[in-house]
Amino acid sequence: MDTILETCNLGKRFGSLRAVDGLDLAVERGDVFGFLGPNGAGKSTTIRMMLGLVRPSCGCVRIFGCDVWHDRGRALSKVGALVESPAFYRYLTGRQNLWLLSELSGGASPEAIDAALERVGLSDRADDKVRSYSHGMRQRLGIAQALVCSPELVILDEPTNGLDPQGMKEVRELIRSLAAEHGMTVFLSSHLLYEVEQVCTKVAVIHRGRQLVSGTVVDLLSHQGRLRISVDRPQDAAAAVAGIDSVEVRRVEADAILIEAPNGFAAEVNRLLVTSGFDVSAIVPQTTTLEEFYFSQVGRGDDDTDQA
Ligand SMILES: Nc1ncnc2c1ncn2[C@@H]1O[C@H](COP(=O)(O)OP(=O)(O)OP(=O)(O)O)[C@@H](O)[C@H]1O
Ligand SMILES: [Mg+2]
Repeated sequence: MDTILETCNLGKRFGSLRAVDGLDLAVERGDVFGFLGPNGAGKSTTIRMMLGLVRPSCGCVRIFGCDVWHDRGRALSKVGALVESPAFYRYLTGRQNLWLLSELSGGASPEAIDAALERVGLSDRADDKVRSYSHGMRQRLGIAQALVCSPELVILDEPTNGLDPQGMKEVRELIRSLAAEHGMTVFLSSHLLYEVEQVCTKVAVIHRGRQLVSGTVVDLLSHQGRLRISVDRPQDAAAAVAGIDSVEVRRVEADAILIEAPNGFAAEVNRLLVTSGFDVSAIVPQTTTLEEFYFSQVGRGDDDTDQA
């Protein structure tokens, strides 16, 4: 496995606040990694540490095997980034801004700047002054700036922040194409579940600086193992299956029960019910949305009041 970005027990304190607390993330080549958490969860602080803009209080970030704080130049040489709202010179054009910003980090060819503008769909407005740009166009220019150096890894802090639905859709499509067509690895933060579910292959959920869970979007959702079993006498059926270790009855309905069981338990549950004389007419796995999953996780984090 080719891990290109990793954090090891990464933490940041601001006074007594643990803004980021013991994060262990691993981003592999080709991932579109969603870093999901509500406002104030510690996303931007983590991303600032990834870019060497904030010094970790503990732990470290390694990108392409180099420690970001101690070897920033090498660690970030193939990284493009967009951190919150990008700042541009309003009286210069989009193209001039990209040129100027690229000069600060080693320079880029006019062709590379053209290609980045093209990729974010700004070619026809590239020679207009940034002060005439809409918010969405500025956000896309910010992404173009992250792409100018032809990075292998792109780190984006809330790339769709403040965009209208159409703008968000365009940026999501752009992000997907960076990975699918240009082979880039993408790490993006978001507080929008829908967005992460749409765009990302992997996700880590953080809340109050702590990592609640991480994994592939598909795995996280299927681990839930919720089954809806249509059965006669559901009250009695619920009592019967409750006797199986590691099966939990979540709900009893008029003609069905809803249970949570580890993957692969459907057959055992079915056998028990049938041999006990129940009529089982259907067993249907319930898909959890990332939204339900997220709230179940964040809810768990809320129980934990140990913040000092
Ligand atoms: N420079 C700072 N000094 C003190 N506290 C800070 C500083 N930067 C961030 N914090 C605090 O750290 C916590 C995490 O902030 P952070 O900006 O990383 O969250 P976030 O997940 O990016 O939130 P949002 O979704 O609102 O952008 C917050 O409680 C914030 O107030
Ligand atoms: Mg933020």
